[in-house]
This record gives sequence, structure tokens and C-alpha cells, in this order.
Amino acid sequence: MIVAVPRESAPKERRVALVPETVTRLSKANAEVRLQRGAGGNAAFPDSLYENAGATFADDERALAEAADVFVSVGQPGEAALGALRPGSVVVGFLNPLGDPAYLQRLASAKVTALAMEMIPRITRAQSMDALSSQSNIAGYKAVLLAAAALPRFFPMLTTAAGTIRPAKVLVLGAGVAGLQAIATARRLGAVVSGYDVRAVVKEQVLSLGAHFLEFDLGADAEAVGGYAKELTPEQQERQRLWMVEQIGANDVVITTALVPGRKAPVLISEAAVAAMKPGSVIVDLAAEAGGNCALTVAGQTTTSPNGVTIIGATNLPATMPADASRLYSRNVYALLSPWIKDGSLQIDMDDDVAKGAMVVRDGTVLLGSGA
Ligand code: NAI
Repeated sequence: MIVAVPRESAPKERRVALVPETVTRLSKANAEVRLQRGAGGNAAFPDSLYENAGATFADDERALAEAADVFVSVGQPGEAALGALRPGSVVVGFLNPLGDPAYLQRLASAKVTALAMEMIPRITRAQSMDALSSQSNIAGYKAVLLAAAALPRFFPMLTTAAGTIRPAKVLVLGAGVAGLQAIATARRLGAVVSGYDVRAVVKEQVLSLGAHFLEFDLGADAEAVGGYAKELTPEQQERQRLWMVEQIGANDVVITTALVPGRKAPVLISEAAVAAMKPGSVIVDLAAEAGGNCALTVAGQTTTSPNGVTIIGATNLPATMPADASRLYSRNVYALLSPWIKDGSLQIDMDDDVAKGAMVVRDGTVLLGSGA
């Protein structure tokens, strides 16, 4: 069985789907890993490391896809791969099945079977395969570093001969995987941190990280199946936005991570809330790609509001820490595939809840993932 790994084709994508450590493990299971030359180069994994781990190489994506039994990527396989994949082969990656159904049709036309990493159900057994979590963790960490670098002040309290500097105040909106990591990282840098989420269960987790939890009575808990948030009613959203104006103005940094699966991100920071912030304050919007939690966010760009607030429309932050992002993603992929590798070939257990959730195309037919 050949497990193929391309050089990622999306702009600014520096991650690689499998790292040398995983190549060694797959080799022990009698799978051959073949990489497009230079696949890990932007993630600090040169070809020589893969060679030492027992990998082989293809010169281009087309030759790679032609040979693949299993094609493992981070993002969607590129055009050359789509045209060359063999019927019956298996594709694994962040395939964006909900956001890009046309791409699923193309995978189906190629008569492959496709497993979407974002559709792996969030059940306890699948935690080691949960690439949404492993990558969100990185985004939460990096968001704080970007905020600290852009803020014209210290994060920690400092007592110096020239007097005392008060610590920065950081507010994290949305305390899921990325938000909790942002809270922990901002605390480590010495800021005074508050967290907020519509799911009541999160309060204890925020407090356990040494942060304050902002309470706002929505009238009902907004937790949905699988631990995700429900979309708020228009009335709840409006009340939340008005309340936010006061909260946000009291902070130097606001990091937003609020997402509702399959929906546009809720706007939590209105223009009025930005206007209430002090000059030099920083907003890092991790929901930028999903439309943004701040009304003024421009995805992929850093802008400055008329009153001097820096707004960072962060996109794909995991790609900016490609070595560890790839390492974790690679382990997620290995945890997904390894139980199904038998006698050197991939035999997916179709009764497995993980397979049922993640499989979005089966032998050329589009399926709707049934993951929680
Ligand atoms: P996400 O990325 O979809 O959303 C981020 C956060 O935004 C969530 O905490 C959500 O409640 C919050 N949010 C949504 N609308 C909001 C609003 N209007 N105002 C404020 N906050 C809002 O979620 P993520 O981080 O991927 O996971 C969320 C939860 O899913 C986790 O905290 C956990 O409970 C559960 N989960 C379970 C796993 C497992 O059991 N294996 C693995 C990972 C997550």
C-alpha cells in the first residue's frame, strides 16, 4: 500500500500531512509512504529526514496521485491530483465538505472514497484523531502572540524603578478549544484575563485557568449536540451585542473565537464596540474566515479603526506554526488510519462510528457525514 503525501497547494499553507515520525510508524505497519519532493520543506522537515524514515519520493503531484492507495493531505488535494487519483483510492484531509459541496462532487467523479478530518465525530474514543482540536489549540496560542506583538503595552504587571506598569486586560470571546488555549496563554504572559461563552458548562473551565468569567443571562443555555453552540435568536444576538459594548471597552485586547458549525460566525463586536475601545487596543478575530466576530474584520488583513484599534483578521494561524501543527495533524491522521491497516492494506470498518461520520464520499458516491 502506498500512502501518498503532496506538497500543499493552497497559498501560505506551510503544513505537511505526515511528518517523519509517522512515516516510521507506517513503515512498521508495512505501508510505504511516498512524498512529493519538498512536501515538508516549509514545515522544517526536509526530504532527508523522510528518507531516513524510509519514505520514497515522486517528482510531481500527478505522479504521486497515480501511485496512491491512500492520499493524505492537509487541505483539499490540488487539480493535478484530482485528475490522477485512481478509482478506489482513499483521500484523507480537511476537505471542507459543508462549505464546498462542489468539491465533493469532483471527488465522487474521481470514484474515490474520501474521509474529511473535520467530520470525525467528537466522541471520547476519537479525541486522538481530532484535528479540529489540535489545530484550534495552535490558533488560540498564536492569536495571543499576535496580540502581544501588536499591543503598544506590556501584558504583565511590571514594578520598575521608573514606576509600576499595570497589566493588560484581555477578553476572550468563545471559550472552546481555541479560546481556552488563548486564555491559558494570555495568563502565562501575565495579563488579567476574562472569558465568555454562550455555553454555561464552560464557566468552570475558564475559572480553572485563573481567568474571570463574564456572566450574561441569555435566558437559556445555548449548548447543542456534541458540545457545540447553537445559533442565538436575533433578539438574543442584539442583546448580547449591546452588552458587549460595555465589556469590550474595558479591555486592551479582545480575542474572538466564536463559531457555530455550518453557519456564518456571530457578530459579537459591533462598530460601536470598537469605537468604545481605547486607541492602541487590539482585536484578533479567529472567526475571520467564517465572516468574522467583529463587524470591521477583513479576513487575511490587519486594519486600523478610525479610533486607532488594530483589528487582525487572522486566517489559517496553524500554518504559521507548521512544525508542531504538522506533527499533531500527522498523529491525528495516524490515529484515524492505523486501526484499519491490516496486512499492509487499508480496510476501513464501515460499521465504525468514526468511519460513518468522516466518510463523505464512498466509492464515487457522495454521502452526508453523520458525525455528531
Ligand atoms: P467552535 O470552534 O465551533 O466554537 C468556539 C466557541 O464559540 C464555542 O465554545 C462556542 O460555544 C462559542 N460560541 C458560539 N457562539 C457564540 C456566541 N454567540 N457568543 C459567545 N460564544 C459563542 O467549537 P470548538 O472549540 O471546536 O469546540 C466546542 C466544544 O466542543 C468544546 O469546548 C467541547 O465541549 C466540545 N468538544 C468535544 C470534544 C470531544 O469530546 N472529543 C473534542 C473537541 C471539542
